[in-house]
Amino acid sequence: MIEKIEEKFKNDLASVSSLEELEVLRIKYLGRKGEATRFFIGLKNLTPAERSRVGQAANKLRQKIETQLSQRKQEFKDRAAVSSQRLDVTAPGVRLRQGHLHPRTQALRQAIGIFRSLGFSALEGPEIEVDWYNFEALNFPKDHPARDMQDTFYVKSSVGKEDLVARTHTSPMQVRYMEKNNPPLRIIVPGRVYRREATDASHDYQFYQVEGLMVDKEISVANFKAVMEEFFKQLYKKKIEIRLRPSFFPFTEPSFEVDISCVFCNQEGCRVCGQGGWLEVAGAGMVNQSVFKNAGYARNEWQGFAFGIGFERIVMMKYHINDIRLMSGGDMRFLKQF
Ligand code: DAH
Repeated sequence: MIEKIEEKFKNDLASVSSLEELEVLRIKYLGRKGEATRFFIGLKNLTPAERSRVGQAANKLRQKIETQLSQRKQEFKDRAAVSSQRLDVTAPGVRLRQGHLHPRTQALRQAIGIFRSLGFSALEGPEIEVDWYNFEALNFPKDHPARDMQDTFYVKSSVGKEDLVARTHTSPMQVRYMEKNNPPLRIIVPGRVYRREATDASHDYQFYQVEGLMVDKEISVANFKAVMEEFFKQLYKKKIEIRLRPSFFPFTEPSFEVDISCVFCNQEGCRVCGQGGWLEVAGAGMVNQSVFKNAGYARNEWQGFAFGIGFERIVMMKYHINDIRLMSGGDMRFLKQF
């Protein structure tokens, strides 16, 4: 009888193919009314001698079954562990996404390359400035209305007495650079600037400028115009006209707004240039002697031009982008296109 059960169990066990089935089998044999348990129920009706014989045999059977069940259980577990680590060489690969430079960075690198070919070195300055470099040294006295054009974000300083400003332009680097370097000099300063601005398609509260400064003994507006012509010709890969209109900046004298001939319609008139044929791209002028003085140079000893290009506008024209806010928005649908 007991041998038969053992035999039957072996057959059953051989056909088990999962942990769940194994559990069913355990209950079938070792459960309260299981095949290997039933013997114990009738034991009390037997004589003591028979009782001990049958009891021992039944106990042995139980142990054998228990051992085999737990061996089998372990086998299932091992197999599951191995198959979860198995490498399926036929599975489709994971596509690696390759990134690229931001369109502004691409254009910036190109611009730096062009200016470098014209003898300008590129450097950067701090985005959080002290009032002195951002305004005062550039001839914006405190309370002067020219400051209103460049309302910005102020940062309470925990270090010095002076409050800090998120710089409104890259021009502060003119004075910072001239304090440490003597003419002749040719630099450009690309970088992010900030304005307190209600945003729309052509205004954002953060954008890039490329500042330029050239100082020597006999620098004139003609030199400036030539540099602009060459820069835009190389950037847009065609001849570009430059137009200077009188303007005002406290740190230049005289000052101008710089327009380029429309890169889209060649001055025939289109939506981008508002039919006018010209696009405004920069502010510029001849460096005010007070700025030289604030940087530690003697008055009337040097001449130079300076300019500040609104860089996003140039990038937007290069790639036909119609909303400046896309430039700092981080929207992948936009960025993937470049
Ligand atoms: N910093 C000026 C602005 O942000 C632009 C500018 C005008 C820069 C004249 C210059 C300059 O260097 O000479 O509006």
